[in-house]
Amino acid sequence: MASQSPRRAPFIVIEGLDRSGKTTQTSRLYARLKETGTQANLIKFPDRTTTIGQMIDSYLRSASELDDRAVHLLFSANRWELASMIEKSLIAGTPVVCDRYAFSGITFSGSKVNSEGEPLLPFEWCRSPDIGLPAPDIVFFFDITPEKAKERGGYGEERYEKEEMQLRVRDSFHRIGREMGTTWVTIDAGRERDQVEQDVWKLVEPLVKEGVDGPVTKLWT
Ligand code: TMP
Repeated sequence: MASQSPRRAPFIVIEGLDRSGKTTQTSRLYARLKETGTQANLIKFPDRTTTIGQMIDSYLRSASELDDRAVHLLFSANRWELASMIEKSLIAGTPVVCDRYAFSGITFSGSKVNSEGEPLLPFEWCRSPDIGLPAPDIVFFFDITPEKAKERGGYGEERYEKEEMQLRVRDSFHRIGREMGTTWVTIDAGRERDQVEQDVWKLVEPLVKEGVDGPVTKLWT
């Protein structure tokens, strides 16, 4: 009988709008995996620790200006810096939990508009530099209305944290979600933290326990 190839670990991505509790839930998921005996790798984009990440950080804090296309490519390059680490980790059986990924790259850059309200960068152009990155096995999209976000203290100080921008980003995430099919899970992030955590855990637990069949797939190929 042919020997079965070992199953690999899952790649779990959490995407979401600002004030959706995405970062808190990513940390909770990581901690819960650890408590239940699974050591995962936790990563976050933008990864502000690398040289590219520092350029992005400075841009987001409005400490520097960059061309819209240039900064989009930096965000993508920042992901490519970790692409082989992600793939190796999954093959070695260590799940990867990731706070934001290529979907943020497309939605945020694609939601930039000129003074007439027209998009500055075409959707397909925004997607192309991320084609071929390791594809997630599941994406949780943390959805929140601007009203709820306001109740939570409103948006922060960084460049994209403005209501009109967040509304466009939200529509764009919904569009990508429809294209992604079953890999994409929309989470109503306006609810109590514990409820949100339970919903995420219900889907992650079996995925981690059973593992994933087949090689790591590639985004949009
Ligand atoms: P953060 O608040 O999760 O650190 O994300 C920083 C900001 O960067 C957030 O407004 C979303 C934006 N962003 C992009 O514009 N493109 C990207 O590729 C990523 C990962 C984030």
